[in-house]
Amino acid sequence: MRVFAPGRVNLIGDHTDYTGGLVLPMAIDLGTTIVGERGGDAVVLRSDACGGIAEIPVAVSDPASARPEWARYVAGVVAELRPRQGFVGNITTTLPLGAGLSSSASLEVAVALAVGDERDPLRVARLCQRAEHRGAGVPCGIMDQLVVAAGVEGHALLIDCHSLEQRAVRIPDDVSIYAVHCGEPRRLMGSAYAERRADCAAAEAIVGPLRDASIDLVEQIPDERVRRRARHVVSENGRVRSFAAAIERGDYGRAGALMGESHRSLRDDFAVSTTALDQLVDRLCATPGVVGARLTGAGFGGCVVVLATPAAEVTGWHLRPSAAARVSGEVLR
Ligand code: GLA
Repeated sequence: MRVFAPGRVNLIGDHTDYTGGLVLPMAIDLGTTIVGERGGDAVVLRSDACGGIAEIPVAVSDPASARPEWARYVAGVVAELRPRQGFVGNITTTLPLGAGLSSSASLEVAVALAVGDERDPLRVARLCQRAEHRGAGVPCGIMDQLVVAAGVEGHALLIDCHSLEQRAVRIPDDVSIYAVHCGEPRRLMGSAYAERRADCAAAEAIVGPLRDASIDLVEQIPDERVRRRARHVVSENGRVRSFAAAIERGDYGRAGALMGESHRSLRDDFAVSTTALDQLVDRLCATPGVVGARLTGAGFGGCVVVLATPAAEVTGWHLRPSAAARVSGEVLR
């Protein structure tokens, strides 16, 4: 059996998924491959890239204690799936690890397809999201796992993270998308991510669901930090809608300007950028042919996503919008 799960890059809409907001990620042509066979009573996966072997009993009860560290993602999925039999195989990846291109969601979805029989993209995504909460202890939203399981070739996916409705937005051939690493690994991710989530919950306790709130309403939140977090979320949801529309009508100037606004909002109001990310965004925006750049994913290091004309010279991963995860060649959707 051979399984491939893509990574993802988020074009716009960060830190909006866990309050039921809008996101616009795309599945990419880099990803995780698992080759192996079912059998036995443990999931045994070797990964040269991650280092070592994950050996997880099918009846695992405490996935967070699995070792080596990356095995917690495998253990989380096994704990959620409760498969009847184990699996023995090998993991390879073309994704940079921990760079903000969803190497963890890609691994989770690949393991879920290798070990279990669930093939509905939304159900696969939900179980992998729960696996990340249980295994890695990161209270992530649904964006990464859902676009990995439900991405559409040649398109980004506009996801309403409340209704979970998805609309494929075609990426035209006359734009190129890159991810460029800022040189810093992501730091403080788990705890800082949980803190941002808590700030958003504090805002919602005052103004109700942020996905329905207006900027005027969030400006009335008394606590400055909570007000800023909420302002980012509400303004970012608006930018996702406008960006999708701009891409669809070929207005790349507007799309690039929205990426700039998104980066500044993540930097100033949501406080998830770093000096290295800010400098990289500035440098890229000054490169001929680049129409926009912003940090992508959770922040705190990792990658910048770049929108450029095909002639632009950008050194980084040139990413193609790709199809969802697939089992032995058959795409999930
Ligand atoms: C991580 C999480 C996602 C999302 C992004 C920020 O990638 O896994 O659910 O919250 O951060 O947009």
